[in-house]
Formats: sequence, structure tokens, C-alpha cells
Amino acid sequence: MSNISIEKFIEGIPKTELHLHIEGTFEPELMFEIAKRNNKKISYNSVEELKKAYSFNNLQEFLDIYYAGANVLIEEQDFYDLTWAYLNKVHEQNVVHVEIFFDPQTHTDRGISFDTVIKGIYHALEDGKEQLGISFKLIMSFLRHLDEASAFKTLEQALPYKKWISAVGLDSSELGNPPSKFERVFTKAQEEGFITVAHAGEEGPAEYIWEALDLLKVTRIDHGNRCLDDEKLVQRIANSQIPLTVCPLSNLELKVVTDLKDHPIPKMMEKNILVTVNSDDPAYFGGYMNENYLEIARALDLSKQQITTLVKNSFKASWLSDDEKEKRLSEIEAYFQNN
Ligand code: ADE
Ligand code: ZN
Repeated sequence: MSNISIEKFIEGIPKTELHLHIEGTFEPELMFEIAKRNNKKISYNSVEELKKAYSFNNLQEFLDIYYAGANVLIEEQDFYDLTWAYLNKVHEQNVVHVEIFFDPQTHTDRGISFDTVIKGIYHALEDGKEQLGISFKLIMSFLRHLDEASAFKTLEQALPYKKWISAVGLDSSELGNPPSKFERVFTKAQEEGFITVAHAGEEGPAEYIWEALDLLKVTRIDHGNRCLDDEKLVQRIANSQIPLTVCPLSNLELKVVTDLKDHPIPKMMEKNILVTVNSDDPAYFGGYMNENYLEIARALDLSKQQITTLVKNSFKASWLSDDEKEKRLSEIEAYFQNN
């Protein structure tokens, strides 16, 4: 048995990512490159100037910049390049399985066809599986600041691609847009065979988490930080082992927490919640998977055992088959024992 540093331990352990917006992986360098070839203007003169704008007081300030960035994506190749860059990045970080969101309405509302978006993303995912060995699931997320009719239309557009899409989700501006607004479209999505997940309790109250569970019948909660305000809800989540896909650097950058030292992950673990670590929008929040694990390990003084538990939680919370899960869990246990 070797005794490597916590940094090396985190880098080497095989990981899975369950909460990642593909549009949130758009690095400024690639954004400028794609803008140039599409003759699109960016409101910043350079990569450095753009990066300086990445300072947010809340979710909405981030979303405004995130949607503006996505405006330069036009062709199928652009969506392919975006996804391919992400896969290569996380491959270097020993990420072996990803379950990623895409936001079709961000593009279809600008006149880009649903087919263009999904084909670019999906073909990159397929190539990533073949060439990098990264398995994947795709989650189509509805924008909650838009209305129910727009979500229904998007679901309709997705039906020909049902085989490619595992689940539907709910993201964007949380406050004022409760899960109940989308109950009917989520019911229809389930009838069509999609799994359901939803962002809830990031900025919104614990009540929104209850709604996501009871009305949208979600099998995972994205974020879920605010569950800790409600002990009954904590019990429900812990007893049912409904996973939370928590995003530490996102929480810090969007002021969901003021300091990583106060991040709720240890408390969630103590309460027997199936909590997982994810990067959300890594190009905007200063870190991919390894940086998220590393920053919380440092701030919260997490042990290799705790990191191992978090990594195992993610595989348990994934939609891999039971056999694949077993294989990954034994591999991770062996890694822990050896390091
Ligand atoms: N879209 C992209 N990132 C998001 C987040 N953290 N919360 C809600 N919507 C999002
Ligand atoms: Zn998110």
C-alpha cells in the first residue's frame, strides 16, 4: 500500500459526474474561436475581459452571462466541439461516466433546430465512449423561467430522439418558478418513459424540494442544499436514499454558501444523505471535478475515506446498470485500500 497525498488520491480515483450543464463547459477560448467562425459578436474584447466578468452575486447574474455565451453556438459542429472539449478535459481527470444536461430551449428560442443541438452533443458523447471510454447518459432540461407550453413543445421535439435521452430535468431561475409549474409536462415525460430530476433548493426553499419529489416524482434532486432547513425533509431524503447532486464551487461562486468551510456536505453525510460532488458549470465556476473535490477536501479537511464515500455515492446515484455499479464500486474500494 502506498500513501499518496490527498491531491494525488483525488486525481487518480475513477469518478462520475452527475450534474453538469454542457453549456456551462464553454471555455472562453473556445467561445471566441466559435464566435469568430460564425461571425458572431461577443460583448467582450478578449478572453481576459470575458473572464473578468465571471463574478456573480446570485444565480440570475450567472444565468444572464451563461445564456449570452451560448448565443454563439450555431452549427452541429459547434455543439460537437463543445461536448468533445468537455469529455477530453474530464478524461484527464479520470472521470469514467457522465450524466449531463443540455438546455434545448436556450438554442431553439434563437432559431437553432433541436436536431442540430442534440446531434452535435450526442455524436461527441458516442465518440467519447468509443475513444475515451467514458460512458454517458443525456438529460434534457427545461428552462423554468419559460412557460409550460414551451416545455411541452420541447418534449414533443425530443420524442424522435427518445432513445438518446434518459431523463428530463428542470433548471434556470429557481425563485418564483416552483416545480409545480411543470407538474403536467413532467407527468407526460414519465408516461413517455423518461426518468425525472429537478434543480431544487439551490436558492429556492425546502418547499420546492418537496414539490419536486411529490409532484415531479424525481429520482434525484439537483443541488438540494436547502433540505437542511427542514428536518422532516432530511428524513425523507435520507430514508429513501434520493441522491443530491451537490456542486461546491458553484455554491461558492453563486453565493449559496459564503465560505467552503461552511459547505453543508459533511452535515449531509452525517445525516445519511446520499450526497454527491459535481461541477455544474465548470467553465464559469473555476473548476472541474478534481478541483471541486480538492477544494472541499482542503476547506473541510476531508479524509481519503470520506472522499471515497462521496465517489462511491456518485456511482450508486448514477443510472449505470447494477453490474456496472458493482464493478466500479469494487474498483474504487481497491483504489482506496491501495492508496
Ligand atoms: N443552469 C446552469 N447552471 C444552473 C444552476 N446552477 N442552477 C440553475 N440553472 C442552471
Ligand atoms: Zn445545475
